[in-house]
Amino acid sequence: MNNKVIAIDGPAGAGKSTVARRLSERINFTYIDSGALFRAVTLKVLKCGIETDDVKNILYYAKNSSLDFINNSIYLDGEDVSSEIREAFVNSKVSYIAMIPEIREIIVNIQRKIAQNKDVVVDGRDIGTTVFPQAYIKFFLTASVEERAKRRYNELCDKNKCTLEEVRDQIIERDYIDAHREASPLRQAEDAILIDTTGKNIDEVIAEMLYHISMKGDV
Ligand code: CDP
Ligand code: CDP
Repeated sequence: MNNKVIAIDGPAGAGKSTVARRLSERINFTYIDSGALFRAVTLKVLKCGIETDDVKNILYYAKNSSLDFINNSIYLDGEDVSSEIREAFVNSKVSYIAMIPEIREIIVNIQRKIAQNKDVVVDGRDIGTTVFPQAYIKFFLTASVEERAKRRYNELCDKNKCTLEEVRDQIIERDYIDAHREASPLRQAEDAILIDTTGKNIDEVIAEMLYHISMKGDV
C-alpha cells in the first residue's frame, strides 16, 4: 500500500474531527470520521428500538445497513444523518455499541476499504493502534477535561437542554468506557506524536501538525 494514512486519535473534545477535516482539505487527502460510523450504527440500532446489550440484533441491523461518506456527510441507508448522529441520545449510547468487537470489525473494514486507493486523514480512538498501525504519521490529541467540556458545551444550539456540568460528566463517562474496554481501547500509540491542545486554537494545532508532517518530507 503506497497510499498515506494520517492517524489522529484522542478523547472526546480534543479537537480531532475539526483539525482532521481542515488538515485533509489543506493537503488534499480524503477525511474519514470513524466516530461518525460508530454513531450512525448506534442511531440505526436506537431507531429500531434495540437495547444496547442485545448484541445479536445489533449485529443483524449493523450488517444490514449501508454506510457511506459523500462530500464529508455521512449517509445511513441512503439518508444524510450528519446532524442526527450528534444528538444527545446517540452520545449517551455510542460507547456501548463501540465496545462490541464484531461492530469494531465491521467499521475497521469500512475504513480500510476507503483507504485502499486514497490518501486519508482518519480520526478516532484506535486508528494508530489497530486500524492503521502502519500509518505514515500518527497524532494523539488531548486537552484538559474542563476545556474539552467547554468546547462541547459551546457547540450546543439549545443551552437550556443541559448544563456544562452534565456535558463534562458525559465526556468523563465516555472517556472511561473508551479507555477501559477490551477491544481496541483508546490509547496513545507508542509512535504517535502527542499534542496537548489546551489553550491552543485550531490554527495553532494544525500548524503544529503540518510542521511534523513537513519533517517527514514527501506530502
Ligand atoms: O467527536 P467525539 O470525540 O465526541 O466522538 P466520536 O469521535 O464521534 O466518537 C463517538 C464514540 O465512538 C466514541 O466515544 C467511541 O466510543 C466510539 N469510537 C471508537 O470506539 N473508535 C473510534 N475509532 C471512533 C469512535
Ligand atoms: O473530534 P473531537 O471530539 O476530538 O473534537 P471536535 O469535535 O473536533 O472539537 C470540539 C469543539 O472544540 C469544536 O467546536 C471545535 O471547533 C472546538 N475546538 C477548539 O475550540 N479548539 C481546538 N483547538 C480544537 C477544537
